[in-house]
Amino acid sequence: MEGMTVVLFGATGDLAKRKLFPALYNLYVENKMPEVFSVIGLGRTPYTDDVFQTKVEQSLRAFSRSKIQDEGFQQFLSSFRYSTFDATEPTSYEQLNDLIERRERELNLPENRLFYLSVAPSLIDVITSNLATSGVSQTSGWKRLIVEKPFGSDLASARALNEKLRTAFNEDEIYRIDHYLGKPMVQNLETLILVNPVLDSLFNHQLIANVQITASETVGVETRAPYYDKAGAIRDMVQNHLLQLVMMTALHLPKKAHPEEIRTKKMEIMQALRPIQEETLQTDLIRAQYNEGEIFGIDVPAYREEPGVPHSSMNDTYIAARLFIDNEFWEGIPFYIRTGKRLDKKSTRIVFEFKERPTQLEDYHPEGLAPNLLILEISPNESISLQVNMKDPSSNRFEPSTITFTTNLNNQPEAYELLLHDALLGNATFFANWKEVELSWEWIQPLLVAFEENRLPLATYTAGSTGPKEARQLLATDHFNWW
Ligand code: BG6
Repeated sequence: MEGMTVVLFGATGDLAKRKLFPALYNLYVENKMPEVFSVIGLGRTPYTDDVFQTKVEQSLRAFSRSKIQDEGFQQFLSSFRYSTFDATEPTSYEQLNDLIERRERELNLPENRLFYLSVAPSLIDVITSNLATSGVSQTSGWKRLIVEKPFGSDLASARALNEKLRTAFNEDEIYRIDHYLGKPMVQNLETLILVNPVLDSLFNHQLIANVQITASETVGVETRAPYYDKAGAIRDMVQNHLLQLVMMTALHLPKKAHPEEIRTKKMEIMQALRPIQEETLQTDLIRAQYNEGEIFGIDVPAYREEPGVPHSSMNDTYIAARLFIDNEFWEGIPFYIRTGKRLDKKSTRIVFEFKERPTQLEDYHPEGLAPNLLILEISPNESISLQVNMKDPSSNRFEPSTITFTTNLNNQPEAYELLLHDALLGNATFFANWKEVELSWEWIQPLLVAFEENRLPLATYTAGSTGPKEARQLLATDHFNWW
């Protein structure tokens, strides 16, 4: 890999500390960084290079998945430099340019520059415009831009933001992070059925009754009320992570695909995603907010009592929906998605429920057989499970029994590490491209308007529960349960 410079905007922030410095270090330890590289951290707080390097070291000691090794560690740290930065101030960009160029000369680096924007959304367009006008983003090598979510707060703002980015970067130079696409199991989805003929044979629309995608969290709004109370679960989780999971699940590629084919296929799935219309809004979508409750034996407050949340907030902390993908393969097979904060457990998973076969074995299962399930656990644990029915000799009845496959790999690379590595290599397969982002906002937009106009009641659920009863009813009307 050729040498390069990583320019990190927001280097004093939480993401840099918890995820980005550790990701760079783990890539370095695994020889996935170029032999020579430069990292330039930018933030408002004035630091010297020494203080910045100490901060990086502290972050690695606290958050790196691989242990700090003596060998090469000082050399790794010595690649870091810092520049105090005010995003609206032209002189900040001049200083940045000087620093980047000086380091490129010192280290004999080609002008390959990766700009990582881990900053407040309001600063993204200011920074990109300034990068272009100041000349920082004009290089004789390659340039790439990584942007964090949220990518806009509705369709219009996402389009406006994209136009701004495009003044300084081409689409193939923009890497929009959706960290769910960095989760190893999600990255596996594309090839899982190719390498497992058994799973491939299950991936058959005549066998699948429904698909369920769950992203449940136990945490509440934490300290993010100013952002979250405006975003809600619909923007925070559904528009990006859940719709990306829907696209990745529905892919069904017959052979190893080129990144471009994957993108086209994902786009086609988004285009085939049936819009939730006025008539189906009440029946196909549930929005809810948590009440006080108990999680792991600890009392937790209602959303409206959380610090910074207005007492009258009508924001959603939970969304469930019934979706249909109108293409040949998925015709008539519902996708149920749900996500919420302050639920009973932390789990992201995809479950395929299979159709029942009429049997002549009613004696063995008077209440009905449990369905066969294929369960892909994405995080925090990763596994593939199959639920089948086995006869219990003592009761002479068929009971569900689950077999689970895990890789037994501890210490797996984290999402940010995989994604950063892909960006260093120029592989954008697991980043959200503009068309996907735009189509997901187009799909979400009418829902935002309906929420705004209070056309959908806001249900409630007890913190620590599995969610609102309305979400159970959503599946009950189709004679299914959530898994
Ligand atoms: C983030 C959301 O994008 O994803 C958070 O902003 C959420 O609200 C987080 O908690 C969940 O990510 P993960 O990887 O813990 O499932």
